[in-house]
Amino acid sequence: MTALIVNGTRREVAADPFAPLSDTLREGLGLTGTKEGCNAGDCGACTVLMDGAQVCSCLVSTAQAEGAEITTIEAQDPLLDRLRAAFLARGAAQCGICTPGMLMASFDLLRRNAAPDRAAVEDALGGVLCRCTGYLQIIEAVLDAAHGTVAAPFAGIAGSAVGAPLPRVDGAAKVAGTERYGADAAPAGALWLRVVRSPHAHARFTLGDLEAARAGLGLTAILSARDVPGRNAFGIMPDLKDQPVFADGYVRYRGEAVLGLLGAREDVAAVRDADLPVAWEPLPALHGVAAALAEGAPRLHDHAPRNVLVRGHLRCGDAEAAFATAAARTEGTFRTAFVEHAYIEPEAGFAEPGTNGAMTVAACTQAPVMDREETARVLGVPDEAVRIIPTACGGGFGGKLDVSVQPLLAVAARVTDRPVRMVYSRTESMASSTKRHPATLRARMAADADGRFTAFTLDGDFNTGAYASWGPTVANRVPVHASGPYRVPNVRNRTRAVHTNDTPAGAFRGFGVPQAAIATEALVDDLAERLGLDRWDIRRRNAIGKGDVTPSGQVLHASAGLSECLDALKPEWDEMLARVAAHNATHARHRLGAGIACMWYGCGNTALSNPSTMRITLARDGTITLFNGAVDIGQGSSTVIAQIVADALGVPIAVLRQVVGDTALTPDAGKTSASRQTFVSGRAAQDAAKALRARILALANAGDDARFALDGTRLAVSGADGMRVLELSRLNSDLTVEARYDPPTVPLDADGQGVPYATYGFAAQIALVRVDTTLGKVKVEEIVVAQDVGRAVNPLLIAGQIHGGVAQGLGLALMEEFIPGRTENLHDYLIPTAGDMPRIRIHLIEDPEPEGPFGAKGVGEPALVPTAPAILSAVRHATGVRMTEVPVLPHRLHERIGGGEPPPSPLPSLSFGAEPRQRGAK
Ligand code: FES
Repeated sequence: MTALIVNGTRREVAADPFAPLSDTLREGLGLTGTKEGCNAGDCGACTVLMDGAQVCSCLVSTAQAEGAEITTIEAQDPLLDRLRAAFLARGAAQCGICTPGMLMASFDLLRRNAAPDRAAVEDALGGVLCRCTGYLQIIEAVLDAAHGTVAAPFAGIAGSAVGAPLPRVDGAAKVAGTERYGADAAPAGALWLRVVRSPHAHARFTLGDLEAARAGLGLTAILSARDVPGRNAFGIMPDLKDQPVFADGYVRYRGEAVLGLLGAREDVAAVRDADLPVAWEPLPALHGVAAALAEGAPRLHDHAPRNVLVRGHLRCGDAEAAFATAAARTEGTFRTAFVEHAYIEPEAGFAEPGTNGAMTVAACTQAPVMDREETARVLGVPDEAVRIIPTACGGGFGGKLDVSVQPLLAVAARVTDRPVRMVYSRTESMASSTKRHPATLRARMAADADGRFTAFTLDGDFNTGAYASWGPTVANRVPVHASGPYRVPNVRNRTRAVHTNDTPAGAFRGFGVPQAAIATEALVDDLAERLGLDRWDIRRRNAIGKGDVTPSGQVLHASAGLSECLDALKPEWDEMLARVAAHNATHARHRLGAGIACMWYGCGNTALSNPSTMRITLARDGTITLFNGAVDIGQGSSTVIAQIVADALGVPIAVLRQVVGDTALTPDAGKTSASRQTFVSGRAAQDAAKALRARILALANAGDDARFALDGTRLAVSGADGMRVLELSRLNSDLTVEARYDPPTVPLDADGQGVPYATYGFAAQIALVRVDTTLGKVKVEEIVVAQDVGRAVNPLLIAGQIHGGVAQGLGLALMEEFIPGRTENLHDYLIPTAGDMPRIRIHLIEDPEPEGPFGAKGVGEPALVPTAPAILSAVRHATGVRMTEVPVLPHRLHERIGGGEPPPSPLPSLSFGAEPRQRGAK
């Protein structure tokens, strides 16, 4: 037994002295508030205090911690409580998986320094990564806690929720460390599942005697393709289930699942690949689109002739004729890299078999109903036999739309008839999960002498990797958006999603639109330069707006506030340009640059039915419950939808209870993606709330403008003719209403003409960068955002979405490049830290969307799209160099600027499954 002093109490625990302290806290003592995101000291999610100083508890052995004072997020302390309140008030916790680590690092700081300045806070938080928030609200929260300026909790009254900066309804558990993520709970006695993955990008393999191996290794079972009881295939597209749960003699990418090891945790962890009877026959691998399209390249799938999974197309007008007569033309080829979601929570969950073929899977996910369908197919049972219970989701950004652990767990639980749990390692998560599609984009654009855009073409190849995932969605969304949020009468866009032997690419915040915007916005800058126009001016005179026709032939009838966004930015743009000019007049090496970019983004699926159903019940015990199938992955849908329901129903938000995401209890609200939940599910919730309100008023014979209030089971309805009191317990049944909303779209024809989306988000951003022209290093100093959100249901959460989108856009522009086998951890794959963040100012534009709830539309993806092109525009302004490849790593920019020794860049190659290097304790 090891004795630990945890939160002031001596605890005896049976633990391996070499086990990481984080593991002993979680598995030995049940203190799951301490999170494990990487087990390598890179993410800081496991930060605790040891003898008063912050440490990564994954880097401290249990033996090292013996006798030391350990303080975790579960500690009771007034200063920690003040920090918790500040985090809530500032919206500093989104998905919340980093929040315990952030709080402990902040706690450490404020105990040492009661009045830190901003730099000290950034420094103290520098070892904890957050992928959601962009850090700024966290920094403000720490400063608030230090300075005693924590805002009082919002006192909501009926009718005041929409538009109010309410703290998240699920925030208290996140700051207390009691939120339950995929790795935080499992049935007692659950077996552990570990997946053995392919070390080869393309190979055949044969399996030897697995039963002998199982017996020799002391495992409960070794699973392979032959153990899958139903169809050994899953995939996003209804007609394209191309990815096996376990590979069957053939693998198409490094990281593909081959075997499943089941047993005690320490036993499955101890197995080495060499212990298993797998004979590999490596095959030549197709890395990158060029190799896959080359003459004679092997065909990776029957469904993809010449490895082309799908093509997208849009045509309007006559682009070639317009180019021939244009006053100004430009073109370019642009390249983007694989980008990793880098959610701090690795995929995790458990499965528990029931009777008569039933299976319950609890896991982090963005799409519980799709998970149910996929899992049922793999098990060979009806959908109804499977129940998906979403755990809290520690970040998704599109990466948890595809199933990961769900079918693996379900197969394992079915085979053993026992509960099974698993947690991906960081390396496993990064090697096996989907990525943002690398793109090669050849684009052309033309304008007349007045700077009016006349033509645009794009030919885009997207590396969709070994399996289809969301490749078709990307290939179809990009042609619609690629010419940007501008009036362009002649457009011809073509895209291909191409299979390779690289990691599957899927959904990542924008579905290809961020890549396309990098090309388009660079061409807009080109045309401005050629015509002698200001970059703001050329965008303003071409900005699409109400009454205009999109390249898809859709008339924008409402909520198209790009011009207002640009107008809001104009004073700061002019001031920024003046500041840059003054600085650069006297500085040769460290130059400033100002950049600008715009974006539009269709909310919801592209030209497909996209429904959401919401249910609300007023029970006879006086409780109001929203059965909300929209999974909140940190973006705040549970809060925003509650605000919408509260005001539509006419009650204070505090009286609402919610059941979220459980497929056995909630109707299908669709997946959390494509910036659709506020718009689509919010509208369904609003309709349901209105219907319930009508039922209540009808019961009381009251008019539409009556108000009601609940006091236990007494419902008091006040109208023009006085007040009536209903005793709910006397009703025969609960009052239950359901509403379904499917945004109106029209399918696209062969030329991409139709109505792909019911509404679009619009935004513009300007960026100020400082470039060290000798080293090629770029520091983003300011981003100013103007975004048309229709109606700002919750400005606090919207600001958080925008900050987080800017952070991810900054990473896309300057630092993030996933290379299979080389950057499968969070120290070789770099994401922005607190110190990388620029100052951000936000102008919210509210051009109401008539279809949206209270006029609202989607926010999450639009926040990211313009950031990278705005930064590239600013780099070009500073250096004169038009960068056509992201990320703009220092050596790449240095090479383009020319001169001097380039900074070192090559990374060492990693072997698959190798443990990441450890940085050492903080
Ligand atoms: Fe920080 Fe999600 S809130 S990682």
